[in-house]
Amino acid sequence: MTNHVYIATSLDGYIATSDGGLDWLNQIPNPQKSDFGYAEFNSRIDAIVMGRITFEKVLTFGIWPYDKPVFILSTTLTELPDTMVGKAEIVNGDLHELIKRLKKRGYNNLYIDGGRTIQNFLQEDLIDEMIITRVPILLGDGVPLFGKITQNIKFKHKKTEILNNYLAKSSYTRDR
Ligand SMILES: NC(=O)c1ccc[n+]([C@@H]2O[C@H](COP(=O)([O-])OP(=O)(O)OC[C@H]3O[C@@H](n4cnc5c(N)ncnc54)[C@H](OP(=O)(O)O)[C@@H]3O)[C@@H](O)[C@H]2O)c1
Repeated sequence: MTNHVYIATSLDGYIATSDGGLDWLNQIPNPQKSDFGYAEFNSRIDAIVMGRITFEKVLTFGIWPYDKPVFILSTTLTELPDTMVGKAEIVNGDLHELIKRLKKRGYNNLYIDGGRTIQNFLQEDLIDEMIITRVPILLGDGVPLFGKITQNIKFKHKKTEILNNYLAKSSYTRDR
């Protein structure tokens, strides 16, 4: 059972502007139309656990970009649009119990997405791998990737790749 983060941040550690904007990600130079390793990452996960705010952002894209089951963490959502049947489910409750429930259903390797969601998993020391791609921009304010935690959590640096002479993509695994 492993839980993975795969995310892009600004140099100052934001994953979106304060209004949830992601335009700064669309400005990344990418003449070869690279996926920057996303397909390889996606092949290693069984399902996605996503915060409600990220889910609502993805709905605005107009296409559903996932080919794996998506579990939406929320205490406020009660139902999903009909178009989401068979693609996504609402979940909540204790994160350790949630992971056990998903494991029983065969979902062992989870992609954890959304700032507050990642922070909640980190607070429970439930993240095993983080792949963080730093975009060379300062946003000054926004939705932070990291927040307060009540204990130190050590990671091992695995590798850092420079992509398109622009992005710094670093992989870390939990040092237990
Ligand atoms: N740069 C990137 O690569 C990247 C990647 C992903 C997302 N984003 C952006 O980040 C922003 C969203 O991040 P965010 O930090 O605002 O929010 P988020 O983590 O996507 O969603 C937070 C919400 O998830 C629910 N939640 C989280 N933990 C929970 C738990 N343990 N139990 C029950 N519900 C839980 C709560 O929903 P309720 O309020 O309904 O209870 C909470 O308000 C969006 O703008 C998105 O586009 C960027």
